[in-house]
Amino acid sequence: MVKKTLIATTAISVGALMLSACGSSDGGSASGKDDGKITMGFAQVGAESGWRTANTKSIQDSAKEAGITLKFSDAQQKQENQIKAIRSYIQQKVDVIAFSPVVETGWDTVLLEAKRAHIPVILTDRAVDSKDTSLYKTFLGSDFVVEGKKAGQWVVDNAKDADTNGDGKIDVVQLEGTTGAAPAIDRGEGFADATKANPAIKVVASQTGDFTRDGGKKVMETFLKTQKHIDVLFAQNDDMGLGALEAIEAAGLKPGQDIKIITVDAVHDGMQALADGKFNFIVECSPLLGPQLMDLAKKVVAGQEVEPRILTEETTFDQAQAKEALPTRKY
Ligand code: AHR
Repeated sequence: MVKKTLIATTAISVGALMLSACGSSDGGSASGKDDGKITMGFAQVGAESGWRTANTKSIQDSAKEAGITLKFSDAQQKQENQIKAIRSYIQQKVDVIAFSPVVETGWDTVLLEAKRAHIPVILTDRAVDSKDTSLYKTFLGSDFVVEGKKAGQWVVDNAKDADTNGDGKIDVVQLEGTTGAAPAIDRGEGFADATKANPAIKVVASQTGDFTRDGGKKVMETFLKTQKHIDVLFAQNDDMGLGALEAIEAAGLKPGQDIKIITVDAVHDGMQALADGKFNFIVECSPLLGPQLMDLAKKVVAGQEVEPRILTEETTFDQAQAKEALPTRKY
């Protein structure tokens, strides 16, 4: 697998995909194991959000630091592209495959192909919905249900403020992530679960904005036209919340006051909106998974046992905490 190439700039086109190699890559055996060098094939979801950009950078930087050759592909949010990329990595006999599945279901066949080729697979960021857990070695990432619960708990704890027109009802609109994606399913579930505690809180409209700014803006425009009154917006990521801000301001309303806004991620632009009083609460979802991923890759390639589930540590931010955290925020 290991080729004599210089880092970062090599790009190989595979169908609609962009596959590129970066990291150390000077010679070695076909498997990369004889000389201790490792090649990882990483199938990324896309570049849909600020979170994803930070996640990609973390993975690319960490691979370089760890001396791991990285073959990287961007699936443009399409499962078929990710499956093609994984098949291409199997053909290229990489030492380890890592990926963040765009949706939860439909992975068993390609993961079985990797297993039969004796290539270990690591799930990062998002999980797959498969009964056969032997198809991957470990899953590194957040607990999205807990993230949704934290968002819902904020509405429960701030119910008086969140009832922006004081009519005794808290009408919530939800911007969902990509349909079928683990964070969209789980955050929605967690939010619903936490808000059950107060029957005044109701999700009156919920639609996908595909985790993008543009999607968030367009769907929010529709919500503003179709809903009589909106007290709270729960955007399942910062980017959709930021798009929605534009729609809210264009409708002559004050985000953060007329409509309370809760998001997930805590990327720089989201934290800025929170510090500026336009968002009310952000649940952190850390994209900095690269260093842990590279450690895990070394272990699984060496045949060592790893924990089947590795959880990311995360916090939450209110407006004051965002002001304090912003100057040192890494992404
Ligand atoms: O899977 C993580 C989610 O994907 C992030 O919350 C979102 O911003 C991204 O697109």
